[in-house]
Amino acid sequence: MSERWTPDSWRNKPVVQMPAYPDAKALADVEAQLATFPPLVFAGEARNLKKSLARVAKGEAFLLQGGDCAESFAEHGANNIRDFFRVLLQMAVVLTYAGALPVVKVGRIAGQFAKPRSSPMEKIDGVELPSYRGDIINDIAFTEAARTPDPRRQVMAYRQSAATLNLLRAFATGGYANLGSVHEWMLGFVKDSSQSRRYKELADRISDALNFMRACGLNLESHPELRATEVYTSHEALLLGYEQAFTRVDSTTGDWYATSGHMIWIGDRTRQLDHAHVEYFRGIKNPIGLKCGPSLKPDELLKLIDVLNPDNEPGRLTLISRFGADKVADGLPPLVRAVQREGRVVVWSCDPMHGNTITSTTGYKTRPFDRILSEVKGFFNVHAAEGTYAGGVHLEMTGQDVTECLGGARAITDEHLNDRYHTVCDPRLNAEQSIDMAFLIAELLKQERAGKAQPLPAAAGM
Ligand code: TRP
Ligand code: MN
Repeated sequence: MSERWTPDSWRNKPVVQMPAYPDAKALADVEAQLATFPPLVFAGEARNLKKSLARVAKGEAFLLQGGDCAESFAEHGANNIRDFFRVLLQMAVVLTYAGALPVVKVGRIAGQFAKPRSSPMEKIDGVELPSYRGDIINDIAFTEAARTPDPRRQVMAYRQSAATLNLLRAFATGGYANLGSVHEWMLGFVKDSSQSRRYKELADRISDALNFMRACGLNLESHPELRATEVYTSHEALLLGYEQAFTRVDSTTGDWYATSGHMIWIGDRTRQLDHAHVEYFRGIKNPIGLKCGPSLKPDELLKLIDVLNPDNEPGRLTLISRFGADKVADGLPPLVRAVQREGRVVVWSCDPMHGNTITSTTGYKTRPFDRILSEVKGFFNVHAAEGTYAGGVHLEMTGQDVTECLGGARAITDEHLNDRYHTVCDPRLNAEQSIDMAFLIAELLKQERAGKAQPLPAAAGM
């Protein structure tokens, strides 16, 4: 692929998973309008994230990426965003403390709207309509009008993303994320649950540490590291017309960046080497993700890396494996070995959600907490055995008290799924399950760090 890249060169390649818009002129008009709108993020931020991910690649930080399977127009609101952000902060604190290393916080948020589907059409009671592809494309209601792709929804998705990102930035830097507030993030907990006790213990320790430092004369208010955090946005860049409209030149470097989010990823269904999505991604300079499922062969992965990260730039490429709890032990090592053998620098992250989806006895699409955890453990085991670094996790989660995944500390059963099953797409960990998961991952991270810790050189004395 030495051909010239342009923001629209993907249009000359075969493409899958793109909606069939009935009105090409209306689509072109919307894309032209989007191209005049302000970017959501700017290149310098994407570069900062890349630097942080380069630290992850070296084993000096941990990546926490998570959020909705699909954002929806109906659930857009301040409480939802705050509750998500709060859980993300709690998880980050748990992991930062346990791993004693920085946690890079990346939301699947402010742009995570478009969904690949296994079938272009859906049939219910003899009626066949286009599948729901996410709110940026069509509506989930099962009517002809709702399911017809409507380009104006792209403008709505952009506006919602802008509003969401605005609030996230405010929370991250405006005081909400202050480490001194670590107890206040607890408010969302069910009183006296096992997680709330565990979290409170940790929060107490952090408060003690802050108080100690204050007593030592440190003015905590003058340290932005304690008062603020950085949260980045990410989504699957599936809808390439929308992405193209937000592909902009960075005036300081002359490079092209996707400005629809800080990090974007390629899905497991759209990673064909000669297809449109890979073509689009190779030309933008953001940090990018690549989902790696059981069908990906090691030599195919190496070819993808050649195209997507030809300069072997640390932090550019995050490989997000999603094998399923029963396949990770056999499926992941060949990929890890190929990447090691060729000396490619990547971040290894684990998506333990998408390979572990089942149908409950009550007919719901769900994921058992134990299987999710089991894939994460398998992922850490593989990296321990291969001498590589298990650098992150990629979760589908929400700050809401939904009942979509089975199990967890407050065991959700088949019968509970019906109570609060709200997702428009895949089942998400609820707030408690997410924090549970963070504590369990923290244990794995601690073990990983213990295995790596170098003894002090003798000359250094005590
Ligand atoms: N700035 C540091 C960080 O983002 C410490 C920090 C401040 C923090 N607020 C936080 C860590 C909230 C986790 C959660 O890592
Ligand atoms: Mn999903």
